[in-house]
Amino acid sequence: MTGPLLSVRDLEVSYGTIPAVRGVSLDVGAADRVAIVGRNGAGKTSTLRAIAGITPAKGGRIEYDGVDITRQAPGKRLARGLALVPEGRGLFGQLTVEENLVMGAYHRDLRGPALAEEMERVTERFPRVRERMSQLANSMSGGEQQMLAIARGLMTAPSVLVVDEPSLGLSPVLVDEIYELFAALSAEGTAVVVVEQYVALALRFARHAYVLDKGAVALAGDASELSANPDLVDVYMAAV
Ligand SMILES: Nc1ncnc2c1ncn2[C@@H]1O[C@H](COP(=O)(O)OP(=O)(O)OP(=O)(O)O)[C@@H](O)[C@H]1O
Ligand SMILES: [Mg+2]
Repeated sequence: MTGPLLSVRDLEVSYGTIPAVRGVSLDVGAADRVAIVGRNGAGKTSTLRAIAGITPAKGGRIEYDGVDITRQAPGKRLARGLALVPEGRGLFGQLTVEENLVMGAYHRDLRGPALAEEMERVTERFPRVRERMSQLANSMSGGEQQMLAIARGLMTAPSVLVVDEPSLGLSPVLVDEIYELFAALSAEGTAVVVVEQYVALALRFARHAYVLDKGAVALAGDASELSANPDLVDVYMAAV
């Protein structure tokens, strides 16, 4: 297998008759760091949701590890190693932190000591989460909930971790911590794909970047090259 781990070709997503994604193509390699940026309503979340299978693709093709997953159920994609931490975090608010983590691993058939060990391995990176295992998820602070959502994503043992707006509502210190974690994950072999409003931050982290505009890829390339492209800010990121 020499191609990209995740390959999206000519993806289309519509809500009713209104198109939100119009032919997006992107690649994610093993251990890659990829950023998707663009103004509000550009189609970033819709693209991620279609990749995860939560929103159906109206057209195009999504391949994971060489297999066509375009019509696969979200749970199957998760089991393959493709995990999404959604916008708004998608936690089970009335369940405890621990129960949310267990839900992350539900498809892995881990029990007893194996499950405890995995929980240990994942929460090692999130001391704030570990201290609150019996607290209800919806009583955690925004930053803690974001950490928990990412921790739950890691409980799926992903090869590709896709995170929609990781920095939303977080203090600068927490944002830095989260991006340090993403860099570490990538160094350990997990590809990380982020949708991010803080373009400078995203481009510093990423190897490859895609700028979406009106549901299409307006610019794509090496993150370092894109960050030097004046069109990025002047044309595609201008305040709306
Ligand atoms: N469930 C939905 N029903 C109808 N229209 C939707 C739905 N979800 C998204 N849209 C529309 O699709 C377009 C793309 O939305 P999307 O959430 O993908 O953008 P985004 O790039 O993630 O924006 P943001 O930066 O604000 O999160 C927008 O015009 C939005 O109004
Ligand atoms: Mg969004």
